[in-house]
Amino acid sequence: MYMVSNTITVLEGYGDDILERFKIRQGIEDMPGFVALKVMKRLEIKGHEEVLVHTIWEDKAAFENWFASREFHVAHRKPAMTPDGQKMVTGNSIDHYEIIVESDATKAVGYVG
Ligand code: HEM
Repeated sequence: MYMVSNTITVLEGYGDDILERFKIRQGIEDMPGFVALKVMKRLEIKGHEEVLVHTIWEDKAAFENWFASREFHVAHRKPAMTPDGQKMVTGNSIDHYEIIVESDATKAVGYVG
């Protein structure tokens, strides 16, 4: 499996506004090869805020298809602005990963029943 993360740097005081925007789902769940999304608020951070987005895909092609899609474009066309006209998002970093080990509490690893 394949993971692409986006680490978004946000002006102090506006992290929750960005997180609220993510609560409005904009179609990623319906894309072929989509596996999971996690949107996370970084805790105990000073000076700015950070929102970490993990998208998990069956393979790289599935991510690339979404990245080139209308759904991606629509979800990114309106930058979030503060009331005094500043962009809430001040920077971001996109990183690609291959998932090597996966486990969670719903899977009884090694259990033969
Ligand atoms: C180029 C810089 C990017 C910035 C500044 C950015 C920021 C944002 C923001 C603020 C939203 C909330 C929606 C809204 O504001 O209307 C959003 C949606 C989203 N972004 Fe990005 N994003 C970027 C690129 C990416 C990339 C490369 C990924 C891949 C991991 C990604 C993953 C997502 C996902 C999964 C959503 C929700 C889409 C849905 O609900 O269907 N973003 N992005």
